[in-house]
Amino acid sequence: MNANVDTFSSYENEVQALREALQNRLAQLLPESHEHDLVCEAMREGTLAPGKRIRPLLLMLAAQDLGCEPDKPGLLDLACAVEMIHAASLILDDIPSMDNALLRRGRPTIHRQFGENVAILAAVALLSRAFGVVATADGLSDTCKTQAVAELSTAAGLQGLVQGQFRDLSEGSSARSAEAIITTNTLKTGVLFDATLQMAAIAAGTSPEIRHSLRCFAQDLGQAFQLLDDLSDGLSGTGKDINKDSGKSTLVAMLGTQAVRQRLQEHLHSADEHLSSACAQGAATRRFMHTWFDKQLAMFS
Ligand code: IPE
Ligand code: IPE
Ligand code: MG
Ligand code: MG
Ligand code: MG
Repeated sequence: MNANVDTFSSYENEVQALREALQNRLAQLLPESHEHDLVCEAMREGTLAPGKRIRPLLLMLAAQDLGCEPDKPGLLDLACAVEMIHAASLILDDIPSMDNALLRRGRPTIHRQFGENVAILAAVALLSRAFGVVATADGLSDTCKTQAVAELSTAAGLQGLVQGQFRDLSEGSSARSAEAIITTNTLKTGVLFDATLQMAAIAAGTSPEIRHSLRCFAQDLGQAFQLLDDLSDGLSGTGKDINKDSGKSTLVAMLGTQAVRQRLQEHLHSADEHLSSACAQGAATRRFMHTWFDKQLAMFS
């Protein structure tokens, strides 16, 4: 085996170990499922179903790049809290009055498994649990926890995911400007990446300057991520409904796939530059980001 293959497999092993640690901790932090407790079962299913775990992995890897020990107490719980908020947003995004999706993570959507009322309640309970997890995380100072709660609250709330979702639903079926689409993508996707990176910075105790560079990094990453999601809409094997965005005003519909792929690369390039300003090394975060995007983009060639 040559040295490159060796390094790659040790990298893959490290990411896989983090994935497993996240899965185990999420399973512990979610309420135990008792018989007939449908809301509880829906919370567990919505969160523990096999997602990519991009946000919590980024949080853990960025924290390492910023100088945290990988096993720093509380770090895993911050990462789990972000994933719970994300899972809640997916459950709500899929319900009939929103995107009306049938499939998520290769399984029937939560409202199809448990009913719409249970899906909504599970999402609310997950949001609430996420804040509880941060508030009671062991090994983090009260100041860290308060700052982390503030970041998550902004990302999940009226000027974050809620606003992004509202704009996407109210404006997505008519023509809108590229600026309007970009703003919506920032709100519905970028803000949670932003909170994710800020929580890594909070755990690592970094300076305001570094936190600013990480905000810029997260914004580019969020845009790139949503563009990739939009590009993937027609692909099979994503675990989601195919062609769900047909008739929706996305940048892909407006500019075409080639131009969007170009934009995506520009966002990744810009993300790289902001990451370099935030932490000279940034090796784990950079490698994760590029490995993941390269793999996804290879599906289009
Ligand atoms: C889907 O997020 C929603 C978007 C912001 C595009 P992910 O693509 O991270 O979904 P999971 O967690 O892997 O299911
Ligand atoms: C994702 O937008 C926004 C969320 C925060 C849920 P999409 O509606 O495009 O996400 P998918 O494609 O259903 O995962
Ligand atoms: Mg949506
Ligand atoms: Mg959707
Ligand atoms: Mg989508």
